[in-house]
Amino acid sequence: MRVELPEPSPDEREHSARLAMLIREEIAAADGTIDFERYMELALYAPGLGYYSAGAAKFGAQGDFVTAPELGFVFARCMARALAPTLRDTGGDVLELGPGSGALAAELLLEFERLHVLPGRYRLLERSADLRERQRATLQSRAAHLLDRCEWLDAPPSAAWRGALLANEVIDALPVRLFVLRDDGLFARAVTEGEGRFVWREMPADAALRDAVQLMLGARRGELPRPYVSEVCPLLAPWFAEVTRRLESGTAVFVDYGYARDEYYAARRSRGTLRCHYRHRAHDDPLILPGIQDITAWVDFDALRETAHSRGWQVVDFAPQSAFLATHELDDVFATAYAAAADETTRYQLSQEVKRLMLPGEMGEHFRVMALQRSKAD
Ligand SMILES: C[S@@+](CC[C@H](N)C(=O)[O-])C[C@H]1O[C@@H](n2cnc3c(N)ncnc32)[C@H](O)[C@@H]1O
Repeated sequence: MRVELPEPSPDEREHSARLAMLIREEIAAADGTIDFERYMELALYAPGLGYYSAGAAKFGAQGDFVTAPELGFVFARCMARALAPTLRDTGGDVLELGPGSGALAAELLLEFERLHVLPGRYRLLERSADLRERQRATLQSRAAHLLDRCEWLDAPPSAAWRGALLANEVIDALPVRLFVLRDDGLFARAVTEGEGRFVWREMPADAALRDAVQLMLGARRGELPRPYVSEVCPLLAPWFAEVTRRLESGTAVFVDYGYARDEYYAARRSRGTLRCHYRHRAHDDPLILPGIQDITAWVDFDALRETAHSRGWQVVDFAPQSAFLATHELDDVFATAYAAAADETTRYQLSQEVKRLMLPGEMGEHFRVMALQRSKAD
C-alpha cells in the first residue's frame, strides 16, 4: 500500500528521532532485534515519547484520526441510554478505559444527568499523562459541575465495584505480535536496524507464538495462502482479566473495528489488519514515523468473547455500531437534537455526524459493539 504522507514538522521529526534513539538502544541491548509487540509498545507508550504518551494532537481534524465520540454528542447520548439500565439497577459507578480527549466522558455525564442516572463516580483509566490533562480540560469546559464525580485511576479498581465499564477504540491500541506463515514454517516479525531506519527481520516462531497462532487458526491454517501475514494479541486476555477483575456486577461494553474470527483470518486478508494513521492518511508501515503516528490492529471479537466467557461474563449483545445505536434510541436522540438546533449549519452538522456513525462505508458496519454482563465476582 503506497500512500503519500504529509511532511512532518521539524518538531515532529525531532520528537520521532528521540524515540527512534530509545528504540535503537533497546534493539542493541537485545542483541539486534526486538519483537514487533515490543516495538509497538514503545512506539505508542514509551514514557514521554510514545504516540499516546506525548503531546501530539491525535484526535479530531487537527490530529491523525477521528473516533465516534469526536464527531459530536450522538454516540455518547445513545451509549448513555444503553448503560442507563445498569446504572439504575446497580446504583454504581462508570469506568471508562482509554478516554482519549475526554469528549465521551463529558457527553455521557451530561446525558446521564438528563436521564437521572448519574453514576456515583466516573472513573477514567488512562496510561498517558498528557491525555489525562486533556480529559480534565474537556470536562472542565463542557461539564464543570460534574467534574467532582470524576476520578483518574493509575490502575483498575482494587476494591469490588458495580456499574458499567466502557472502552471505545482501546483494544485496537493494544500491542500485537505479527506472524508470517510460509511454506517452510511459522515466523515472528521482529524489528531491527537497517541503514538508518528500522526494518523487518523474521525469526523462527517461539512456543508462545506457535500456540497462539494454532489457537486462532486451528484447521483453517492449511487453507491459507503463503506467505500469510497477520497478528495475534497475547495481551488481550490478561488485560481483560485485569480491567474487569473487581467489577462484581454490571455491564462492560467494548466498541472497536473488528471481525469475527472467520473473517479476521480469511484467506483474502493475507496482509493482516495492522494499520497506521498519520494526519488522516491510513497506511501499513509501522516502522516509519515512530511516536508521531498511530498504530492499530483490528479486533478478533471471538477472542474477546472467549476471554470474557472464561472470566464468567455473558455476551448480551454483539452488533454492528449502526444496529447498536439504532437499538439505543438514535432516532429519538437525533430528532430531539434536530428540533433544538439553533440554525441550518447545526442541523447539517448533526446529519453529517449521524451519517458517519451509521453508514456501512463509514463507521456503521466495521465498528462492532460487544456488550457483556456479569452478576457475580469471579
Ligand atoms: C484510539 S484511542 C481512543 C480514545 C477514545 N476512547 C476515543 O474513542 O476517542 C486509544 C486510547 O486507549 C488508551 N489506552 C491504550 N492502552 C490502554 C490501557 N492498557 N489501559 C487504558 N488505556 C489505554 C490510549 O492512551 C488512548 O487514550
